[in-house]
Amino acid sequence: MNTPTNILETDRLLLRRLIPDDLDALYALYRDPEMRRYFPPEGASPDRTLTREETWEELEWFLNGHPRHPELGLWATILKDNGAFIGRCGLLPWTIDGQDEVEVAYMIDKAYWRRGLASEAASGIRDYAFQQLGLSRLICMIYPENVASVKVAESMGMAFEKECVDEHGPYWVYSMTKPVAG
Ligand SMILES: CC(C)(COP(=O)(O)OP(=O)(O)OC[C@H]1O[C@@H](n2cnc3c(N)ncnc32)[C@H](O)[C@@H]1OP(=O)(O)O)[C@@H](O)C(=O)NCCC(=O)NCCS
Repeated sequence: MNTPTNILETDRLLLRRLIPDDLDALYALYRDPEMRRYFPPEGASPDRTLTREETWEELEWFLNGHPRHPELGLWATILKDNGAFIGRCGLLPWTIDGQDEVEVAYMIDKAYWRRGLASEAASGIRDYAFQQLGLSRLICMIYPENVASVKVAESMGMAFEKECVDEHGPYWVYSMTKPVAG
């Protein structure tokens, strides 16, 4: 079997490309309404959960990075201690108010919440985006009720920028620009 492509490491985490064998672990997250509570209602289900098939469609979309921006994507987030798949985090391209943006995305299995792991992943992704990919600006799109997500965005150095509204209602844009070296 081919070794999956590693993207970046932090103290406790390895982020690597998703592989087909991640389907069960990813579906275990996406079938849980608590994990999906602050996501837009993409699938057919009113509680925002995804079916196994919908999870596979998303996973397949990201197998080689984002199809239109292969350097971006959602990446398997692995706890180095025990090799467990504990979430998926990454960088996603969007166009907001006519402007191309890159979002830092994070989801950590609720069994591992409140250990600073999302903050650690987000900071690792921030450094990778600025230093390896040469990006100069990052955002997070967050439903106002998602207090934990706001805290993760702030922990990586973002600040509230604006409120936007789409077909699902209001969401907040947090943002940061690459710090000037020196
Ligand atoms: C948001 C999420 C990634 C946070 O993961 P985590 O690993 O628990 O985050 P951290 O441990 O790094 O915690 C970051 C901060 O949020 C706080 N926090 C975590 N969960 C919280 C909660 N449910 N309510 C309030 N604060 C919370 C932590 O105490 C910490 O605060 P501090 O910086 O003041 O110490 C996780 O809750 C999750 O995966 N949620 C579902 C997916 C999701 O909503 N993703 C974001 C979409 S925009």
